[in-house]
Amino acid sequence: MADNLRQPLTDYDLSQPLPPDASGLRQGLSSYGDAHFSLFLRKAFIKALGYSDDALSRPIIAIVNTYSGFNPCHANVPQLIEAVKRGVQLQGGLAIEFPTISLHESFATPTSMFLRNLMSMDTEEMIKAQPCDAVVLIGGCDKTVPAQLMGAISANKPCIHLVTGPMMPGSHNGTRIGACTDCRNNWARYRAGTIDIEEIATINDELAPTSGTCGVMGTASTMACILVALGLMPLKGASAPAVSSARLRISEETGKLAVGIVKNELKPQKLLTRESFLNAIIVLQAIGGSTNAVVHLLAIVNRHPDVAAAITLDTIDEIGKHTPMLVDLKPSGDNYMTDFHNSGGMQALLYELRPLLYLDATTVYGKTLGELMDSTAFRPVPRNLPGHCIHPFYEPLYPCSSLVVLRGNLAPNGAVIKASASKDRRLLQHSGSAVVFADSADLARRIDDPSLEVTAESVLVLQNIGPIGNPGMPEAGLIPIPRKLAARGIQDMLRISDGRMSGTAGGTIVLHVSPEAADAESAFGVVKDGDTIACNVAERRLELRLSKKEIQERIQERIRQDRARKVTQIHTRGYLGLYLQTVGQAHEGADFNFLTAKGS
Ligand code: FES
Repeated sequence: MADNLRQPLTDYDLSQPLPPDASGLRQGLSSYGDAHFSLFLRKAFIKALGYSDDALSRPIIAIVNTYSGFNPCHANVPQLIEAVKRGVQLQGGLAIEFPTISLHESFATPTSMFLRNLMSMDTEEMIKAQPCDAVVLIGGCDKTVPAQLMGAISANKPCIHLVTGPMMPGSHNGTRIGACTDCRNNWARYRAGTIDIEEIATINDELAPTSGTCGVMGTASTMACILVALGLMPLKGASAPAVSSARLRISEETGKLAVGIVKNELKPQKLLTRESFLNAIIVLQAIGGSTNAVVHLLAIVNRHPDVAAAITLDTIDEIGKHTPMLVDLKPSGDNYMTDFHNSGGMQALLYELRPLLYLDATTVYGKTLGELMDSTAFRPVPRNLPGHCIHPFYEPLYPCSSLVVLRGNLAPNGAVIKASASKDRRLLQHSGSAVVFADSADLARRIDDPSLEVTAESVLVLQNIGPIGNPGMPEAGLIPIPRKLAARGIQDMLRISDGRMSGTAGGTIVLHVSPEAADAESAFGVVKDGDTIACNVAERRLELRLSKKEIQERIQERIRQDRARKVTQIHTRGYLGLYLQTVGQAHEGADFNFLTAKGS
């Protein structure tokens, strides 16, 4: 390619047709009807930026810039881009950055998940539209990595990921604290009256003391670890702090590797196989990863035409049964991502998990995972050092199934619970009387009402926060403990919803009930106060103790009442209209049906 383009005059030779499989700047020409003129015009415009013909003859590595003033998790992106460019140039490529949508958890209403599919469309279409040979995807905050990977798989140009990296922990009264497990813990203490308003304000200053993603095993850290397991990111790429020099060296390495994946033609639909995804699920279970990652992984899998049918929600549960949880990080454990990094990070974890991994899976290094592990110098970190948080394979923190899939008449298509994050393990086998909230507004209105009829044995049910019921499926599944019970020291209850929960949160919380309450046929949508709900995690069961006949009668009654609502949804305009008409259920990843590999 480079030799070809170093003779620019041939680009204007009308007797020589431009090759249909052109690369670099010559690929994907804008349509002016005359291909030579289209290339002539493109080169005229890009020279306005000062590029020489030599520079324009190189493999073009596009860098997706997700910097945004509204995204503190991505505050270091400009420095990372400079380091990636250095790596690309060291290998003889030309790096060109371009922007896409950027999403931060706290700055997207109604919730960042509402916009994940939009970001994936933006990423896919801009990768396809612009003349690049490979793409470096710089993401980090929760929805950005899945959105980028979904888009990149669909675009199917060689891609490599770089995450912004986790933030450092802060400190309060001599105790380390960090976003966002400690945001929630301390807010719960404040609600219960354990700490006062001055103290909660002081804590607020220390929860996010540096740029970077949440410093626990939340969704961002989970997705970063998954990227390494998928073979799409350097081995140390998941855990190096956002503000470290290591993060910049990883960025430089990423730039170098990006040129290599062009030479090796490592398109994501070729690099990623069923085995790559099985490795990702093994890691997800071993880190006690975020429940959100289950939804994202299924959306990612369903973008891949050759893998979509081979990986389902049940695959995640099955792998969990044989995978020990080894990483002691909040919210399931006690430590922070800096501890994970200092314990050897993903390199150390993969070495522990080696007996389970599919070592023939390919990586962006152009080697298999097994070859990569064999060729990488790795010295285990002594286990007795303070903060060491990776358990040996045979001495796990939690024996297996950190994430469990439940089924039953309440969730025929499945629901997910992070069993390892339960604060009261007795609740993993529990039946109780339902206290039902119709939606988030109803919850906010009544949860702290002193007259609410609720006990510690009740099952709190929150309906209508699923993909359609509350577009974006907000992270409202962490239903707060009613204040009158929290004040008595109750810290956990069985809670069930069709929504999501932050990966940084914990408790005995069943999420992603499918079909969601807003689906006219949903049994979850017809649960009433006083119904008995039984959950048995060991047996994977989630049951509404009602006869099939009674459930059906309630559903039919509801269908009669719901007709008007469906018509309203169909006539909603804009992105919300597109979302409501095409979004899928959680058990398939909540992607838009026309974006999946099989199409609508
Ligand atoms: Fe960005 Fe937590 S808010 S990773």
